[in-house]
Amino acid sequence: MIVDVHLRPEDLDDKLREDARRGLTSEPKYLSPTWLYDARGSELFVEITRLPEYYPTRTEFALLRQHAADFADSVRPEMLVELGSGASEKTRVLLDALVPYLRTYVPQDVSEPALRSAVTRLSAEYPALSVHGVVGDFTDSLAHLPSGGTRAIAFLGGTIGNLVPADRAEFLTGTAGILRPGEWLLLGAGLVTDLDALLAAYDDAAGVTAEFDRNVLRVLNDRLGADFDPDRFVHRAVWDAENEWIEMRLEATEAMDVRIPGLDLEISFGEGEQIRTEISAKFRLAGLRQELADAGFVVRHEWVDPEARFVLLAAERR
Ligand code: AVJ
Repeated sequence: MIVDVHLRPEDLDDKLREDARRGLTSEPKYLSPTWLYDARGSELFVEITRLPEYYPTRTEFALLRQHAADFADSVRPEMLVELGSGASEKTRVLLDALVPYLRTYVPQDVSEPALRSAVTRLSAEYPALSVHGVVGDFTDSLAHLPSGGTRAIAFLGGTIGNLVPADRAEFLTGTAGILRPGEWLLLGAGLVTDLDALLAAYDDAAGVTAEFDRNVLRVLNDRLGADFDPDRFVHRAVWDAENEWIEMRLEATEAMDVRIPGLDLEISFGEGEQIRTEISAKFRLAGLRQELADAGFVVRHEWVDPEARFVLLAAERR
């Protein structure tokens, strides 16, 4: 069992400072969703995946259960790389199907605690498998992935939707660039679906998503010494119909100034002013196929749930 840390805590701090300075001094304010996932944020996300309103995880899980064997038999990968693996809860379904072919499993995540516990657990559960964790941001971890054997890269959960189109194109092209022809991308993506279902999934009745969203302010308090009062922000989920993405936003309930000593910065909020903390794009099949083709992939399998809310697709590097 190996865990490579490509994002050392200092690098992560630099990135956080850069991102927070740029985003919080912009108009409108924004933060990268990467910072939602400290230990507490990763736990809250797992809680989200169990909510009745949050359909993506269980929908993808069902698709994996139904189609993992088809994927395994058509791809026969020796190495599975999983980007943004988090707690690797649904990975087991995939690993069980791939086990006849697989020698190495490479989970990658930005959260070192979540990754370490997943690596420890999976090493014990799959003793024949060499488990090689990579701590990093998925956009720049690709360069550090171990090579060897036919590889499949899994990017599940719909996390691709966190990238704006330009970053998505760069990510897909970069992924294609490290793969050899005949290697694969297994991608899970949320589809454009009815507005009520979408909004409820990102603003649940129990308030777990709100807590997850506000937690990013605690991250800034912990790591940059900021004095955000999370209780003076409310969570909003907004559908951007033009871009076809959900935005999570934190809205100031009153005007306030916030000090961020780690950035040597003071920012002010007007009453009702918002910080965008995440975009979660939803896709149409034709559009997604085109984006993959533009990056150098051919979609060989497309598995969609009966309600057409989520797609799991297998694309081969041309
Ligand atoms: C982990 C990025 C796939 O966008 O649906 C859940 C994160 N945000 N609820 C998503 C999330 C709000 C999630 N991803």
